[in-house]
Amino acid sequence: MEPKWWQKAVIYEIYTKSFKDSDGDGLGDLFGVIEKLPYLKELGIDCIWFTPIYPSPQVDNGYDVADYEDIEPAYGGMTAFKELLEKAHALGIRVVMDLVLNHSSDECRWFKESQSSRDDPKRDWYIWRSPREDGSEPNNWANKFNDGSGSAWTFDEKTGEYYLHNYAVKMPELNWESRGLREEVYRVIRGWLDMGVDGFRLDVITKLKKPPFVDSPKKPNPFGYVLDNEIQSCNPGLHEIIKELRENTWGLPQYDAFAVGEAGGVTEKNAEEFLSPKRGELETLYHFQIVSRNRPTVTLKAYKEIQDNWGQIFNRGSWTTEHLSNHDQARQVSRFGNDSSKYRKPSAKCLAMMTHVFPGTPFVYQGEEIGMTNVYFDSIDDYNDRYTLGDYAAAIRDGMTPEDALRKVRINSRDHARTPMQWDASENAGFTVPGARPWIKVNPNYREINVSSDRASSDSLFAFY
Ligand code: NOJ
Repeated sequence: MEPKWWQKAVIYEIYTKSFKDSDGDGLGDLFGVIEKLPYLKELGIDCIWFTPIYPSPQVDNGYDVADYEDIEPAYGGMTAFKELLEKAHALGIRVVMDLVLNHSSDECRWFKESQSSRDDPKRDWYIWRSPREDGSEPNNWANKFNDGSGSAWTFDEKTGEYYLHNYAVKMPELNWESRGLREEVYRVIRGWLDMGVDGFRLDVITKLKKPPFVDSPKKPNPFGYVLDNEIQSCNPGLHEIIKELRENTWGLPQYDAFAVGEAGGVTEKNAEEFLSPKRGELETLYHFQIVSRNRPTVTLKAYKEIQDNWGQIFNRGSWTTEHLSNHDQARQVSRFGNDSSKYRKPSAKCLAMMTHVFPGTPFVYQGEEIGMTNVYFDSIDDYNDRYTLGDYAAAIRDGMTPEDALRKVRINSRDHARTPMQWDASENAGFTVPGARPWIKVNPNYREINVSSDRASSDSLFAFY
């Protein structure tokens, strides 16, 4: 069978906020991306995946969506997006949007309505539960960001119930048991497809089906809550949700689109339940067996075994992806390679080759193509990542000194990947306009590691890619 376009594509992930700032507000934006489209074309990519660029209070850098049908004004709004889509398509570059369907922002109209009264028609679009008899949270689950009290539930005074948020307090979980919610989401997604979007990356898609709302038997943390990640993914009933989602959106015959699921809890053993073309669920996904925040690295032996295992699924018509880093992970050359001046380039090339020669669609994360590295800031104030801030606060509450807490939490901070793209050796790496201040500090090594210097060198990584 003739391969589909997304099976032949190289996908480049853009974290817009850190890519290129065109107007000097310190935030990357879509006009900045438009300016760099020729760069991306030259790099040879076929498709861009944008992490969420919808209007958002940015509690989790856009993964807290306030309006699923618009584009963040600070990124240039819908005008910039439409221009970008047209220009990218003219260059033969497709555009994939991030869909955050597990939770929204509490500033989303849907949540405000849901919160307005127990009888609101959108009440069941979110997960509301009564307090226990003593007034405490409905169960002992912790939120992943150690936000607020640490619980996954926040009490709403007005309506006297708790809502569920597995991430930040301001990120309430959507309820996929609700017919009304499902139909609205399908309508919204079709709107993006009709505009010409080529596909979607589905945020934490394996978590849409919730487990029973009972206490986790695992040992609570010092604050009395349990972070039990295992119970949240791949629950019975998930496949029905994904199948219906696809049938009503990108799977419709009028679109030539695809979806890549962020698939926590999926291994080669259950992957085909999602990927087999017979199932009509996901075209592809990415798993966490190699690249995971909970594991600093993998041995070469483990890497080989995992790749061998996943290789089997292709024989039966399924398809998967390859990546070694993204916006949630440390920089790949620092983590799996060696970022010393002697070995940075050769090891980055080796990792690039691994990603691109294995079967599956390769994903390149911005900056990887010039070997950008991890960063270690000396003050917690320079960090922005919710995990880093939450874990730091918890370490301090737990009695750790600020120095030790910082040393601990910066190891696997997601901010390693989120510092501004290093374009050249000028002030702030050429990310923003002269005199402006980037939303997060640039990596101090930008004078040596940047696009201009890489491309001028005889052993250019960019050229290797
Ligand atoms: C996965 C995203 O990649 C990450 O950045 C985000 O914090 C969580 N999902 C919550 O949306």
